[in-house]
Amino acid sequence: AGTYRLVVVSNRLPVDYEEADDGAIIWRTSPGGLVTALEPLMRSSHGAWVGWPGVADRDFQPFENDGISLVPVRLNEDDIEDYYEGFSNDTLWPLYHDVIAPPSFHRETWDAYVRVNRRFAAAAAAVAAPGATVWVHDYQLQLVPRMLREARPDLVIGFFNHIPFPPYGIYAQLPWRKQILHGLLGADVIGFQRVADAGNFSQAVRRLYGYPTRGVVIDVPAGEKGDSRRVIAKHFPISIDAAAFEELARRPEIQARARQIREDLGNPKTLMLGVDRLDYTKGIGHRIKAFGELLAEGRLSVEDVTLVQVASPSRERVGTYMALRDEIELAVGRLNGDFSTISHTAISYHHHSYPREEMVAMYLAADVMLVTALRDGMNLVAKEYVAVRFDADGVLVLSEFAGAADELKQAILINPHDIDGTKDAIVRAVEMPKRERTRRMRSLRRTVAENDVAAWSASFLRALTGGAAVPAGIP
Ligand code: G6P
Repeated sequence: AGTYRLVVVSNRLPVDYEEADDGAIIWRTSPGGLVTALEPLMRSSHGAWVGWPGVADRDFQPFENDGISLVPVRLNEDDIEDYYEGFSNDTLWPLYHDVIAPPSFHRETWDAYVRVNRRFAAAAAAVAAPGATVWVHDYQLQLVPRMLREARPDLVIGFFNHIPFPPYGIYAQLPWRKQILHGLLGADVIGFQRVADAGNFSQAVRRLYGYPTRGVVIDVPAGEKGDSRRVIAKHFPISIDAAAFEELARRPEIQARARQIREDLGNPKTLMLGVDRLDYTKGIGHRIKAFGELLAEGRLSVEDVTLVQVASPSRERVGTYMALRDEIELAVGRLNGDFSTISHTAISYHHHSYPREEMVAMYLAADVMLVTALRDGMNLVAKEYVAVRFDADGVLVLSEFAGAADELKQAILINPHDIDGTKDAIVRAVEMPKRERTRRMRSLRRTVAENDVAAWSASFLRALTGGAAVPAGIP
């Protein structure tokens, strides 16, 4: 056993690796929400974070970064191909997102998934203090809770699934469906984004294992003599550090940048914005189709409306993602070819990721934010847009298939498969009177401010450690 009282395990460490010109290693804290949420807790409770540092074939010793101990797990090129790109992102990702793309099922990638999960579990077991709390994150590591429990029955184990959990009819396609459930049921608390995700999981447990479930409680057989362990499967919708986003938005230089963005685009009457990882779950093509039809029908004009689409590069060696990029860039090029003029560009498209400051300026500049995901665990972009709009202006168009739709009821909710309905919603957003915009945005802002990421992690850990807001016994 190690010495850490709180151990977080996720596929990626919350740092990006860089090499200086002289070959020195530079670790930059990556600006994910999870790190911000857990940083204070990790500092105060002697925490460690176990994860992959994002480079292949390299061994790194544990090190400190911004007051957090980071424990790197090595992934070889084979592991990246089979565990990360293969099983995680070509099997589980599409399967858990309603099979929007067809999942692949290969025994070799499953074997790699088992092997790599074992490596993460061993790394966590090695650093966790007796009786420590271990919090495992996301679909890449679903076998870790069980492996940890077997190695270290003294630990308190939580798991949070950041992506959807699919309905049984889809989940059942997975040849290793029982092994994955068994892996997850090693945890004491299994967290999901939506009520529906937790329900889908409990149903899969009943169908495949026949364990009794009562509300959020599942009785899992344990030990020899008919004993059982209580496992909780419940929704804990994740959020963002809303105050930090608002603080950025209030900075004069970021407001100046927002004005500059609008000016550079020729001061359009309406600036619409889409911000996504370039992923087939995000409905970027549906959004472009709706916008194109509105332009073709003359309901919107490039003289008045510009769509800025940020598509940040993601999982670029996975075939489905390569095909998606071609498809989206063809659609953007066509639409611009058909509708842009010398002075007005219909879609300003950026295959690029930007620092948080620039994103906040874009949110401030945007009159209408389009989130048209076909399936999304939560969609934090929707919450970021709301958190930034301290001026209580701007309209959020939000897919009901994003987890955020459960909370953000004052958005204009859409079904992105219904292109006509989506078009009507876009026009409504563009034409919405100021008073209605303000009323809706105020209500959205209250929701996001009250349910920030600190509240999220506190409530998960409270469920896990039985009442103690942070893992008990920490000085
Ligand atoms: C989603 C997943 C995360 C993942 C992120 C970026 O949000 O839930 O687990 O880290 O996408 O994807 P990547 O494959 O680059 O880690």
